[in-house]
Amino acid sequence: MGLLVAPSLLAADFARLADAAAAVDGAADWLHVDVMDNHFVPNLTIGLPVVRSLRSATALPLDCHLMIEDPDRWAPPYAEAGAESVTIHVEAAADPAGTARAIRAAGGRAGLAVKPGTPVDPYAELLGEFDLVLVMTVEPGFGGQPFRTDMLGKIAATRNLVQQSGHAIWLQVDGGIDEDTAAQAAAAGADVFVAGSAVYGADDPAAAVERIRAAATARAGAQAATKQSPGGADE
Ligand code: DX5
Ligand code: ZN
Repeated sequence: MGLLVAPSLLAADFARLADAAAAVDGAADWLHVDVMDNHFVPNLTIGLPVVRSLRSATALPLDCHLMIEDPDRWAPPYAEAGAESVTIHVEAAADPAGTARAIRAAGGRAGLAVKPGTPVDPYAELLGEFDLVLVMTVEPGFGGQPFRTDMLGKIAATRNLVQQSGHAIWLQVDGGIDEDTAAQAAAAGADVFVAGSAVYGADDPAAAVERIRAAATARAGAQAATKQSPGGADE
């Protein structure tokens, strides 16, 4: 799997979301949509009607990150609305495995997110129900926060859990991602990079996406190369 970049619309002009999507079309892999309910996090953003409108405004895959209470009830409709991936927070879900199955049954990929203070290890057995695990690298709720370097160890540990699971599961990072921090996260094992401010704060959002992917790919490649034994075999 190559490395993916998902610009976050949270940093775009909410009155011009279709333009924001078009600005990264051809460069971005997915479009990250931050759904907040002012209960799970202290901020309120966009919901299902806007996702439905986005679906008809762009061909980019929609990557919905639900920072909401009761995702068991609300997540499947995002997949029904045409979102390619729907990520729920484990802290908010009563039945994460059942909700993952409902998302998948509705045609979406299921994602499991953990806040910085939530360990991933207790959920190792759950990972097989999901297509993606999201290790938050800021406290969810707001864009523009600094990347938490203390999450690098958790990213590496999550990469190990994913490998042990034997499933093909993306490892996404979200929060404070720019060229530099994407490279650090890539070296730790992340392969999907969400970036808000670093993309929509740039003069050329598409070029910013390409730079972030290139920086991450260079570091991920370097990491893989150091794992090669002199004989060329892996590890
Ligand atoms: C934060 C959101 C992020 C946010 C990232 O709760 O989940 O997706 O948009 O924004 P930056 O890249 O500015 O940290
Ligand atoms: Zn997000």
